[in-house]
Amino acid sequence: MPARVKVEMAMDLQDARIIHNRVLGPGYYKMELECIPSLAGAVPGQFVMILIRDVEGVFWRRPFSVAGLVLEDGKACGIELIYKVVGRATAAMSAMAPGQRVSLLGPLGRGFEVPDESDPLFLAAGGIGIAPLIFLARHLGAGNYPGRIIFFLGGRSKSDLLCLKELEKLNLELHLSTDDGSAGLAGPLTEPLAEAVARDPDGMICACGPPGMLKAVGRIAASCGCRCQVAVETLMACGMGACQGCVLEQAGRQGAYLKVCRDGPVFDASRIIIPG
Ligand code: FES
Repeated sequence: MPARVKVEMAMDLQDARIIHNRVLGPGYYKMELECIPSLAGAVPGQFVMILIRDVEGVFWRRPFSVAGLVLEDGKACGIELIYKVVGRATAAMSAMAPGQRVSLLGPLGRGFEVPDESDPLFLAAGGIGIAPLIFLARHLGAGNYPGRIIFFLGGRSKSDLLCLKELEKLNLELHLSTDDGSAGLAGPLTEPLAEAVARDPDGMICACGPPGMLKAVGRIAASCGCRCQVAVETLMACGMGACQGCVLEQAGRQGAYLKVCRDGPVFDASRIIIPG
């Protein structure tokens, strides 16, 4: 079965019912939402815009990477989100119970495109950047990806390393890093990633995480001539290309911009000036 992750552009607006909303770690949650079929067809790297109604000071939808599909009898009937409480909207989300509903627009944007011949495939996730990459790892594993998958997971501390148990069950090589050394190597994940990419530059990197990490990943890829796609996380207002609120400068084209919501959020790292 081909491992290419196709980009789907169909999207819908709906009130989605919460199936589960669980604590994943200190300040981190996983929400499962029941969705209509078009949304449950999301691919890794795509995102949804969510509005939590009736929260004081919350007027806009917020973007969330899709972290997986909810399957029932082998068929997708919903999506998973992994989120961190960082403000009023996510605090309100964390207090929601199964059966309640959120207004949801999606799936939006362009996902990862991984050619079959990418061997090894380096997946690099920093902190909450795990969301699209655990989805990608599962998606590729489910299709019996023909090459090696080497996963680099990093965070400030052990409690920021999410989905560890699930990653350990997948057929991949896992490397952990924490800034404080409480799990795995002490230091940024980009250090072991750089060594691994230097040994195998014919592979491909897929990454998501904070801007500084993505910038460093982009530099590693450029210095080794390794293909690299990055999922950029940024503030968004409309999520559909209308407001110009999410633009990034194109690499090598001064004054030319791309929209994260419509042209991304997954970009070839060589195509953009990665913020941060
Ligand atoms: Fe409005 Fe991207 S969020 S153009």
